[in-house]
Amino acid sequence: MAVTEFAVELRSVSKTYRSGPEPVVGLDRVSLGFPFGTFTAIMGPSGSGKSTLLRSAAGLEGMDSGQVLVDGTELGGLKDKELTLLRREKIGFVFQSFNLLPSLTAAQNVALPVKLAGRRPSRSEVLAALSSVGLADRAGHPPGELSGGQQQRVAIARALISRPAVVLADEPTGALDTKSGREVLTLLRGLADDAGRAVVMVTHDPVAAARADRVVFLTDGRLAGELDRPTAEGVAARMTSLEAVAC
Ligand SMILES: Nc1ncnc2c1ncn2[C@@H]1O[C@H](COP(=O)(O)OP(=O)(O)O)[C@@H](O)[C@H]1O
Ligand SMILES: [Mg+2]
Repeated sequence: MAVTEFAVELRSVSKTYRSGPEPVVGLDRVSLGFPFGTFTAIMGPSGSGKSTLLRSAAGLEGMDSGQVLVDGTELGGLKDKELTLLRREKIGFVFQSFNLLPSLTAAQNVALPVKLAGRRPSRSEVLAALSSVGLADRAGHPPGELSGGQQQRVAIARALISRPAVVLADEPTGALDTKSGREVLTLLRGLADDAGRAVVMVTHDPVAAARADRVVFLTDGRLAGELDRPTAEGVAARMTSLEAVAC
């Protein structure tokens, strides 16, 4: 296993979608590293490859060329079963639409990845994950009895139950009001600061992006620059110029 400072590294990753009449570029020779203990925001116009990048980093997307390394392990060298196992142990994924199962309680949703891995999660393990997102008192409620912000926090607890090295979040605040969104951002920030994880978040919101250590911009599947220690104003100005070029 190669020694690396990166929790996730993409090396010249390219992906073209060929399902439609015309090939569509998803990613074009993208090289990027996400160090442990850092929070990175991914921004770019709609269709610029942000979700493709996140799915590639999670080993959920077949690539045409390039390499993805998670905690030093190259995904391309793994058998399907090994890839599933590595994803389960190392990567937590958070979606804009929460993706909770409506018929299960919050606790059962959080326990699900552990059960799918063939283990019986302890009650205290599940409650600890729910406590870490401030929702221990909602353990017995189904998603339908929780606010959007609470549902997203359950989804984060579910992503954390396996103690992953990497948390990937695709527009995690996109469906939330400002206050709930801020709580989710504070949680994600804490995962990088306190738990030393690599947190990568796709967002359209310059204020959300400004909570990250670094913003990476994409256009047409290519890297289009970075901002370190971003401010909301700086991010907004960069997005405006990228969108002007895209038109
Ligand atoms: N499953 C797919 N099949 C065909 N084209 C796709 C698929 N997923 C994404 N694309 C295309 O790839 C490009 C990048 O998509 P995506 O990564 O979803 O962008 P973003 O998340 O930045 O909006 C877009 O042009 C999109 O239409
Ligand atoms: Mg997307």
